[in-house]
Order: sequence, then structure tokens, then C-alpha cells
Amino acid sequence: MSLKQRFPSDFVWGTATSAYQIEGGASERGRGPSIWDTFSHEPGRIHNGDNGDIACDHYNRVEEDIALMAEMGVDAYRFSISWSRIMTDGTPSTLNQAGIDFYNRVIDACAEYNIEPWVTLYHWDLPDHLERTEQGWLNRQVCDRFADYARVCFEHFGGRVRRWITINEAWVVSILGYGQGVFAPGHTSNSEPYLAAHHLLLAHAQAVDIYRKHYQKEQGGQIGITNNCDWREPLTDSDLDKQAAQRALEFFLGWFADPIYLGDYPETMKAGVGDRLPVISDEDRVLIQGSSDFFGLNHYTTMYAAEAGDEPVEQQVYGNGGLNEDQKIDLSVDPTWSVTDMQWAVVPWGCRKMLQWIANRYSNPEIYITENGCAYDDPIDTSGQINDQSRVDFYESYLEECAKAIELGVNLKGYFAWSFMDNFEWASGYDKRFGLHHVDFKTLKRTPKSSARWFKRMLNE
Ligand code: GAL
Repeated sequence: MSLKQRFPSDFVWGTATSAYQIEGGASERGRGPSIWDTFSHEPGRIHNGDNGDIACDHYNRVEEDIALMAEMGVDAYRFSISWSRIMTDGTPSTLNQAGIDFYNRVIDACAEYNIEPWVTLYHWDLPDHLERTEQGWLNRQVCDRFADYARVCFEHFGGRVRRWITINEAWVVSILGYGQGVFAPGHTSNSEPYLAAHHLLLAHAQAVDIYRKHYQKEQGGQIGITNNCDWREPLTDSDLDKQAAQRALEFFLGWFADPIYLGDYPETMKAGVGDRLPVISDEDRVLIQGSSDFFGLNHYTTMYAAEAGDEPVEQQVYGNGGLNEDQKIDLSVDPTWSVTDMQWAVVPWGCRKMLQWIANRYSNPEIYITENGCAYDDPIDTSGQINDQSRVDFYESYLEECAKAIELGVNLKGYFAWSFMDNFEWASGYDKRFGLHHVDFKTLKRTPKSSARWFKRMLNE
């Protein structure tokens, strides 16, 4: 049986991008700055001093890009809307028709090739005005701001968009943006992440409430949230290490998924974080619980987890977000695991275990992997080809494990490869390449890599 045949016939195959990482056109036609514009222009924040001013210039090359996507044979394209492109200062009083027109162009191009648009409302690019004047995600008012923005999107695009993702990776926004300060807005705090996270959940829930009350019936779409989680494997068979791995997953994914599927933050978090963890009021619980039509998962890697020893461990920015005082977990990787250019270990079975954990904990929801992929810097050879065999191996091995998960009863319904093309990889700038298509950042020329052709063959099998 071919790999493709191991997936249901209605399985959704797609690729993904996000606005700030690919669009460029940073101040074209009424777009206001987002916190990522500001952050990336601060000296020392981004590798090599890179920024997203031009990025892949997707703003001017949408049609070319979506034609390349169609060439791969995908069913779906997940992209995000830049909030400050359609509302210069983040509020409906600065509605920007040119911004609306741009996303209509994206949707038109998708329609031309019969590619289903999957639209993320928030992929980290808060309008800078809301950060400067209202303290961004630390002020509950941001939830109403987000709800207003979401309403505008449903109104303008909902006639042709059937799949909405409210927030991408609230964990990253909270931990890397407010805990570690390595992502915008660059705060370092051991309490702000929990407050920002609380508001992200509420903002998501308010947007869903509006969609369900006013648009869902007529527009016939689905709405959900995408969270990220890496797998945590107990380092040993000891009960303490098993509990540590479980606790690590609860702090990572349970933080956001438990309130939505179970109605409250995990007990382990309440115990570990104490009064820095906001309380979900009864009123808010009504909004939050049950607020996702599907389970969006971004998954990249796996680490071992063990009960923290007495020795302070090195803080792991991407591992436990540096909030280890709250979690008491030591993380490590197996030296035999190969790693990508992000130094993230390639552990395909971790993806299957992650899916099974979600299925067990949250009563087997419909899951979509909305991102999975790897960074490798494969050069263009003399014949103009990019032979990214390690990326092909990565996708093949992760998809094998996804197929196994389905065979074991997990309700996995779709898979989006991150990313369609090389792009602005946040604090790493243009140095880390995740694309199925190579981008020459001097000429902006796109070249399909072997992995793009592998996908096409796999999808045609
Ligand atoms: C995710 C993020 C993407 C992409 C990817 C690779 O966390 O949603 O924007 O950058 O990681 O690091």
C-alpha cells in the first residue's frame, strides 16, 4: 500500500505560511506596523539584523506562489491575515480597503486552483498601536479588539473561507514573547506569560462565539485554535519521570487545550504556578469550554523529561520556556537522535505518541496537524536543483507515524507541511530554511526543492 493510501480519501493535504514571514510590503498601501515590525527593527533582536520588510515579497507575488502550490497538488493552503494590514491601528476605525483587497486576491488565487483557504487570524503580529497604547496581550481589552477584528474578517472573507484558526500557538506568544523575551514584544517575566495566555484563550473564545452566533450557520464553516506541542518521553521508567513527562505536556499543551476541552487549567499548573495563574471565572468558562470545532496541532520535535534534580539545569528556551521553577522538569535529548538546523531532534514516533495523548485526553477529537516540518539548508547544485533528501526523509517518516496513529484509532483529518517556501524564521531571520520551495532572498526567485516534487508524487500515488 502506498503512503497516501494509508490516509482516508477525504484527508486534507496542505502547506502553510504566515503573513509576517512571507508577505513583505510592510508599509505598502496603508498597512500599519505590527509588534514584529517594531521588534525586528530593534538592534540585536534578530539574527543578522534581518526583518520582514520585504520577506518573500509574497504581497506582490501571490498568484505565482499559489500556482506553485497547485503544481504540488495540495488541497489546502493555510495562511494568516496581517491584522494591521486590514486595520492600520488594529481597530475598525482604520479599516484599510487595500488590505481587504489583498486577501481577496489570495482567496481568488486559491479558488482558481481549487485550493481550500485555511485562514489563521493571529500568527503573532499584533498591531503595534495596541501594544503601545493598550499593553497588548496583558490588557483584557485586547480580547474585544481581537473580536472586532475577527468580525471584520468573517464579514469580508467568510463567504469564501470555510476554515478559520483563531490563534496560532498561544504557548509561543506567551512563553517566547512574555517569558523569555526572544520573540515580540520581548518581555521577560515569570507572571506575564500566564496573564497573556489567559487573554489569548479568551480572545479566541470571544471570536468563536461571534462566529457561531452570527456567521457559522449561513457561511457553513468551522473554527478552531491551533496549539503547538512537542512530545515529552519519560527519561526512565520511574514513576517520577513518568509524572514529569505528563506534567511537561500539561504545562505545554494542557495549558490551552484543557480549558477548551475540559473547562479548566490542569491541576499540575495550578499547583506549580499558584496565584500567578489567572482563575477561569464561571462566566468565562462558558465561553471557553467547547470553543473549538477541531484540534489544531503544530508539532516539531521530542525531548526526554525527568523529575528535576537538585542541580539547576540549563534553562531551555524552547523546551520549558525557562519557567522551570514552576515545572520542575529536566529536559534532554538522546545523543543518537539526528537534529535539524534548529537543533530540533527528528523523532517521528514522538509525533504518533503526541497524537495518541491528545486522542486519549480529549476524547478523540478531529485533529489537524496544521504545521510539521524541518529546517535544512540545502544548496542549489550546479544544475539548479536542490536535493533536500533529509527533508524528504523527515516528511516520509513523520507521515508514516501519522498513518500508524490513524490505524490505531486517532481521528487525524489533515496535515499541513511547514512551510510552502523558505521565509523569515522569526528570531533566526532568513538563516533557517523550512521551505518545500527554495527562495533566493536576493532575487526572490522560487525553486521547488526535491521535497516539493516528492510531495507531488506522494499525493498522486
Ligand atoms: C512555528 C510557527 C511558524 C514557524 C515554525 C518553525 O512555531 O508557527 O511560524 O516559524 O514554528 O519554527
